[in-house]
Amino acid sequence: MPAWLNDAVFYEIYPQSFYDSNGDGIGDINGIIEKLDYVKELGCNAIWLNPVYDSPFMDAGYDVRDYKKVAPRYGTNDDLIRLFKTAHEKGMKILLDLVPGHTSDTHPWFTQAKKAEHSELSNRYIFTKTVWDAPPQYRMMCGICERDGNYMVNYFSSQPALNYGFHEITHPEWQLPCDHPDCLATVEAIKDVMRFWLDKGADGFRVDMADSLVKNDDEKVATAKIWRGVRDMLDKEYPNAAMVSEWCSPERAINNAGFHMDFYLDHAGNGYNRMFRGGDWGAEAAFNPNGCGSLKEFVEEYLPAYEISKNNGYISFMTNNHDMPRVTAYLDKRAIKLVDAFIFTMPGVPFLYYGDEIGMRYQSELVSKEGGFSRTGSRTPMQWCAGKNLGFSTSDEPYLPVDSSKDAPTVENQKDDPDSIFSVIKSVIALRHKYDDLKGNGELELIYENGRIPFAYKRGSMLMLVNPLSSYQTIKTDYRGEKVYSIGSFETVDEGIRLSPQSFVMLKLS
Ligand code: NOJ
Repeated sequence: MPAWLNDAVFYEIYPQSFYDSNGDGIGDINGIIEKLDYVKELGCNAIWLNPVYDSPFMDAGYDVRDYKKVAPRYGTNDDLIRLFKTAHEKGMKILLDLVPGHTSDTHPWFTQAKKAEHSELSNRYIFTKTVWDAPPQYRMMCGICERDGNYMVNYFSSQPALNYGFHEITHPEWQLPCDHPDCLATVEAIKDVMRFWLDKGADGFRVDMADSLVKNDDEKVATAKIWRGVRDMLDKEYPNAAMVSEWCSPERAINNAGFHMDFYLDHAGNGYNRMFRGGDWGAEAAFNPNGCGSLKEFVEEYLPAYEISKNNGYISFMTNNHDMPRVTAYLDKRAIKLVDAFIFTMPGVPFLYYGDEIGMRYQSELVSKEGGFSRTGSRTPMQWCAGKNLGFSTSDEPYLPVDSSKDAPTVENQKDDPDSIFSVIKSVIALRHKYDDLKGNGELELIYENGRIPFAYKRGSMLMLVNPLSSYQTIKTDYRGEKVYSIGSFETVDEGIRLSPQSFVMLKLS
């Protein structure tokens, strides 16, 4: 296990929207290099970079055309290597995004595979035997290439699924087993991509749709086996490299597949959702002050997952990511502060989505850009300061428009405001780095009654108390300690600790 993960706090950068250093309207790698000090000062010592590879951008770069080439709009491979180097000099790590489940339909592997003539790449993707064969349970593109066969897609139509084989074979005439040499070759091709960037200085990967490799693999045993092989490779050849999975199943992703971290994602009705997003636009989120939420789903889902995986890896909370509406669409500013204080004091390895530190808003009215659709509103340019494009770009045609409201938050107007989300995030991350008990490995004891809000949690010598509600609340506890940090106020009473409305308190236990 790479030791640096225990104290890692990640910052997710959507490169096209972060900082445009050359005025062409699109964020770039040199822009990220210029802003490394900003990220570091915030307390984040690691970055997850969304895909920066050559791509036709039908899905914002998750449709890779060349895994080994930086998209010219972001810069060159040398720029990316310089980003790794500069980050390392500052004690920071960079994870690239690995997209192993599919490529763009313009990737040379696919342009070769879809030809009628047979080649060594004919099985790199999943084609049926003839175009008349299109089983409805699979998502197929039908009758659109020279080759007599339909091909399976993994996400959008432009993203054909790479062939790692089928665990359960229902159509032997075109489904290959996972140990077929051509499926094993796909695994090797992806390992080759990983080695290519790790050799150049990348610190690891966020793995897109990590559970999607092998088809007809309901229990994900065959998919986990592939990742276990990848983990063995890392342990042997790159022991400091880390992988985080987009999976949201810690037992499978961490214990079985060997990921160092697994994202806690927002899925309808799951624990993450019920905590921060739940119900009708946040009405039933546990952090909503109106009290209609509950901890139940979170406790029942997260705690067993944490217990079962904590000795093998980390569950990663995130403030948001590029796939869902920003939390500002669901909760008020005060509630968001409590959410952030919670996320950055939980075990595991937390991720901060760019712009969440200033409370950037979800821009719901935008026309889809590069396959973003409803996600586009969370992908708008970073808001740095007053002025043209809020400091993102000098271009007249930025990648997406910035927030046009008069009171749009910017780094400039939030950074020194003690009442800002920025101040909370920066302070809490600093405390996480300061106290070992608050880091990734620190123990967790959740203190709650029947899923009721408010709640508290103890991490070694630190006690956190959270009252998301709009009324005064008392948490029953015998613990007493000295205040380290608080949002709102508290007092010690006979039966426990009484918290003011919408408050968060961190105590160092005596
Ligand atoms: C998950 C990524 O986060 C998302 O943005 C992308 O569209 C899909 N996977 C497909 O790669």
